[in-house]
Amino acid sequence: MTDTSQPAKPPLLWQKPDTRTDARVMRFLAGDDVMLDREFFVHDIRASKAHVEGLAHIGILDGAERDRILHELDTLAEDFRAGRFILDERFEDGHSAIEARLAERLGDPGRKVHTGRSRNDQVLVATRLWLKEKLANLVALCRDTAAVCLDRAGRESLPMPGHTHLQRAVVSSTAMWFAGFAEAFIDDARRAQDTLAWIDANPLGTAAGYGVNLPLDREHTTRALGFARMQVSPIYAQLSRGKFELAALDALASALLDLRRLAWDLSLFTTAEYGFVALPAEYTTGSSIMPNKRNPDVVELMRASYASVAAARSEIEQLLSLPSGYQRDLQFTKGAIFHGFGRGLAALELLPDLLRRLQWNAPALAAAIEPSMYATDVAIEQAAAGVPFRDAYRAAADMAASAGIDRTPEASLAARISPGAAADLRLDTLFERLERI
Ligand code: ARG
Repeated sequence: MTDTSQPAKPPLLWQKPDTRTDARVMRFLAGDDVMLDREFFVHDIRASKAHVEGLAHIGILDGAERDRILHELDTLAEDFRAGRFILDERFEDGHSAIEARLAERLGDPGRKVHTGRSRNDQVLVATRLWLKEKLANLVALCRDTAAVCLDRAGRESLPMPGHTHLQRAVVSSTAMWFAGFAEAFIDDARRAQDTLAWIDANPLGTAAGYGVNLPLDREHTTRALGFARMQVSPIYAQLSRGKFELAALDALASALLDLRRLAWDLSLFTTAEYGFVALPAEYTTGSSIMPNKRNPDVVELMRASYASVAAARSEIEQLLSLPSGYQRDLQFTKGAIFHGFGRGLAALELLPDLLRRLQWNAPALAAAIEPSMYATDVAIEQAAAGVPFRDAYRAAADMAASAGIDRTPEASLAARISPGAAADLRLDTLFERLERI
């Protein structure tokens, strides 16, 4: 059976009798762009449906035309998802592919879909919807991560060394370690949520960035697409492209920076030198040459993922040196967000389960506590008893080696009563914040 859903190469949208094109130039203009549009295609179709409804509201389409176009757009989305319609270099971009398909299936009514639109308008709304979806994923992943950390912080508390400058410094605990990352990921979830609210503005209906001579029903498309507000100024809609992408990547970067530090800890903690942590077997890989090894490759790629987010951020920042209005430069923002969010979310996706299942090695943690780590406790106790802190500090330094006499890590932690520290973790405060996200 021949596949009839895949049209032959359609003419360019902007083809005129005197249009001359060169294959090399066209390839340069499109690059991997049409492939990237696969990522945004279903969002483009969804926004096109809202636009069609809006056109019917202002009498550009009659009810029958509207219904036929909406039906064909649904069919196109289904064909695309099922692999029956393939978006490839036969099309200049995803936007013209939609129009070509409607024209092929419906003739003239199909050609009306672009009334009052521009491809700049299409790519803006499609990428905006895509960014909202990715930020919602980011919120959920940060929440899940924070929830696991909070749960483990409340469940077990083993003494462990607290390091500064990579040196053993004071007694800390596994509960403090988890509580720290819990609060970090609550903040990351919050930032992602705030960013989502900030970019939740509908650019659809701004055409090429200067509006059109039609009373477009932008209120309808704003509602239909679930946007919190309409992005009012067409010129601002264009100015926000790239700027909103950067904000979304910044929110992602916050989470990935915390992940990078966490991964660093796990990288160190799983070495024989520390031996604090055992990772679930699936999160390690064998060495092709050294039969004795299990390597923490997952943790290392988690750590590396920030680089891709930083690269995306940097690429967009460099692109934005532009005058107002649409410039084709903006096309490259798509590859950047695709790459950055692809890498970043993939790393975060594995995190909650990894944290849920990593195991602390209690004997190794206990053996790493050494007497000098109580020196700060000694100094603080003296100071609390009225000795000026500098004198207490010097006295404790002189006797650092014997600071551990009659002391246990458990007692040190039980006395760590400053708010947020081991004896007063305030997990309920963190939990309340998490619940409000
Ligand atoms: N692919 C382009 C982009 O991502 C949008 C379509 C081209 N628009 C144009 N006016 N040439 O920006």
